[in-house]
Amino acid sequence: MSSGSLRVAVIGGDGTGPEVAAEGVKVLKAVCQSEGIALELVDYDLGGDRYLRTGEILPDSVLQELGTFPAILLGAIGHPDVAPGILERGLLLTLRFHFDQYINLRPVKLFPGVETPLAGKGPDDIDFVVVRENTEDLYCGMGGFLKKGTPDEVAMQTAVYTRKGCERCIRWAFNYTRKRNKKKRLTLVAKTNVLTYGHDLWWRTFQDVAKEFPDVQTDYNHVDACCMWMVKNPEYYDVIVTTNMFGDIITDLAGVLQGGMGVAAGGNINPEPGGVSMFEPMGGSAPKYTGKHVINPIATIAAVAMLLEHTGHEKAAARVMKAIQIVTGTKMKSQAAGKMGYSTQEVGDLVCQAL
Ligand code: IPM
Ligand code: MN
Repeated sequence: MSSGSLRVAVIGGDGTGPEVAAEGVKVLKAVCQSEGIALELVDYDLGGDRYLRTGEILPDSVLQELGTFPAILLGAIGHPDVAPGILERGLLLTLRFHFDQYINLRPVKLFPGVETPLAGKGPDDIDFVVVRENTEDLYCGMGGFLKKGTPDEVAMQTAVYTRKGCERCIRWAFNYTRKRNKKKRLTLVAKTNVLTYGHDLWWRTFQDVAKEFPDVQTDYNHVDACCMWMVKNPEYYDVIVTTNMFGDIITDLAGVLQGGMGVAAGGNINPEPGGVSMFEPMGGSAPKYTGKHVINPIATIAAVAMLLEHTGHEKAAARVMKAIQIVTGTKMKSQAAGKMGYSTQEVGDLVCQAL
């Protein structure tokens, strides 16, 4: 029995990244074998250690090779001996921008057996998705200093929004909301009362695209109010579409509601034909846990499920999601590092067994 093939580039990266990526790969191999999917994996040594060793962050030749894969699995980026911004911009953001991964898809789902800090809320209440624009906004890296290091110093950091950039993201979010078929409610999260240029563009574009989707109910929240509602009434949300910077911030809040960084996964998606997409756990490289085998691989395994779904292996994706929920629901004591009741590798094994 053969049902297609799949090529995946694996970037373990820094800190605990390689440990969680290994468990993601373990589950990916197991499900592909059982589903008859011919899997080809190629490992890439990128991250802080390589940078410190060789001065290289992302050689052009590697970038070109990565461009031949439909999907990349990324562990984590961030090294304690490398100044903030160098690896984030040189590796993670470069990959997102170079491959034009304009959707950052972050499902927020409370799995069975997982504890949320929200009193009285359960898996039925916390089940929504954030669609974060992933190529523009404050992330474009435009700006500079004037009179740096003097008392008259000026620093500028410019947010860039384009009609094309927000329209493609908003239209994708409408389509996704329609297909998700839950409440069919799409909430735009922005700050139109202060960002009267950039977010006015988002607002107008949202209204225009909404006309193509009369079956989708639309709503708008200012980002500060969204933080309040997400804690008070998470069950209200179905799909949220938002800008890059706000999406970064609200998905950390959302990640905690779903049980923490140990379970939160995301996809950097280029939805165009031939696009290269990248899937990752939302958590960082957690240097203090490196090599201790205590970090939670569930988020990475959930990222593998997203990767499978995105590459057209829906059945395999559904099996991984189901297996995750068996393990969180019936095995793991906690989703926190060191408190799972199992090592990183054992959690990976449990998910493979549950497949
Ligand atoms: C994330 C991370 C990144 C971001 C950092 C590491 C650049 O926080 O994926 O949410 O800000 O997008
Ligand atoms: Mn973030």
